Amino acid sequence: MKKVVRVLLILIGFVAVALVGFVSFAAIRGVPTYDPPVIQDLKIEVTPARLARGAKIAQMHCIACHSDADNHLTGHQLSDLPSLFGTIYSMNITQDTTFGIGNWTEGELLYFLRTGLRKDGSFAGIMPKFATMADEDLKSVIAWLKSDAAPVQPVAKEAPASDFSLFSKLLANTVIKPLPYPEQAIVIPDSTDEVAFGRYVADGLGTCFACHSADFTKQNPQHPELSAGYYGGGNEMKTPDNKPIFTANLTFDDETGLGKKYTKQQFIQAVKACIRPDGSLIRQPMFPHLMTDYEVGAIYEYLKTVPKLKNDIAAKEKEALAQQ
Ligand code: HEC
Ligand code: HEC
Repeated sequence: MKKVVRVLLILIGFVAVALVGFVSFAAIRGVPTYDPPVIQDLKIEVTPARLARGAKIAQMHCIACHSDADNHLTGHQLSDLPSLFGTIYSMNITQDTTFGIGNWTEGELLYFLRTGLRKDGSFAGIMPKFATMADEDLKSVIAWLKSDAAPVQPVAKEAPASDFSLFSKLLANTVIKPLPYPEQAIVIPDSTDEVAFGRYVADGLGTCFACHSADFTKQNPQHPELSAGYYGGGNEMKTPDNKPIFTANLTFDDETGLGKKYTKQQFIQAVKACIRPDGSLIRQPMFPHLMTDYEVGAIYEYLKTVPKLKNDIAAKEKEALAQQ
C-alpha cells in the first residue's frame, strides 16, 4: 500500500472513531447544562394594557404549546413536531409552586424567554426563544403569567418528561445553544413605518419565520432574516392526523409564493381566521392569529420586501404523501 493511502486510511479511522465517540458522548450527556446565569432583578408594573397585550401574545404562543384539554397551562405532547426530535412535552407553567412556575421571579422568566436558560443553568432546547420580541411585549406576557387569568391558576400536575431523540441530543450538543441576553433595549418600531412595523410583527412578535422557513435546525432567532430559506417555507411538520405537511412559501414569488395568490385583505383573513381566498381552510399546525388588521396588513407589506424564493410546497407535499 502506498504511504499516502495508508496515512489517509489511518486519518479516516481516527475521524470515524472520534465521530462514534462524539455521538455516544451526546447520547449519554443528553441536553447539556450551562453555568447558572447572573440574572438581574426586575419589577414589572401591572397595568390593564399590559395584561390585555400579554393575554393576546400568550394566546398566539404559550397557550398553543402549553395548554391542556381544560385550557390550563399544564403542558401537553407537541405532536406536530417531526418525530425526528423525539417525544416532546411542554411543561406546567401555571402558578403552582411545585409543578409549575409559581416560584420563578419576573427576572428569571424574562431571562428564560430570551435565552432558554433556567436559573440553575439547565437549557430548554425545544422551547422557542423570543430573541427579538420587544421588552414591552415580553413584560406584558410575564405580567399575564403572574395574573389571575384562568389558564395560569395553579394546577398540581406534572407533564410527562420529554424523551429526546439522539438527533435532538446531537443538536443540543452542537448547533442549538442558549442565546446571549440582549445588551440593548428592544423597542417596538413606530407603527407609521408600515414595513418596519410589519417586520417586527412577523419576526419579533409573531415569530412567523420560525415555521415559515426551510428548517427548524437552521434558524437564527437573533437575526431571523439569516435563517435558511427565510419565509420560503418548506419546514416539515405534522397534521393532527399525523400526515406530513410543509409550511407555506410566504415570499412574493409569482408561481410558488403569495405573489398572485393573496390581496392584502385576503391575507388578513388567512392569518386571522385560517381561511384561503377560495374559502378552503388552512390546516394545522397553522392557527388563527389574534392580531389586528393593521398588524397583519403590515406583515403583508413587509413580506413584499423579502427576497423571493421559488419553493413549490404543494409538489413537496404530494411527493411526501406518495412515499408514505
Ligand atoms: C413550540 C412550543 C412552545 C411554545 C410556543 C412555548 N413553549 Fe414554553 N416550553 C416548551 C417546551 C417543549 C418546554 C420544555 C423545555 C424544552 O425542552 O425546551 C417549555 C418550557 C417552558 C418553561 C420552563 C418550565 C420549567 O418548569 O422549567 C417556561 C417557563 C415556559 N416554557 C414558558 C413559556 C411561555 C411564557 C411561552 C409563551 C411566550 C412559551 N413557553 C411558549 C414549548 C413551548
Ligand atoms: C406553528 C407553525 C406556524 C406558525 C407559527 C405560522 N404558520 Fe402559517 N402556516 C403553517 C403551515 C403548516 C401552513 C400550511 C397549511 C396548509 O398547507 O394547509 C401555513 C400556512 C399559512 C398561510 C397560507 C398560505 C397559502 O399558501 O395559502 C399563510 C398566509 C400563513 N401561514 C401566514 C402566517 C403568518 C403571517 C404567520 C405569523 C403571524 C404564520 N403563518 C405563523 C405553519 C405556521
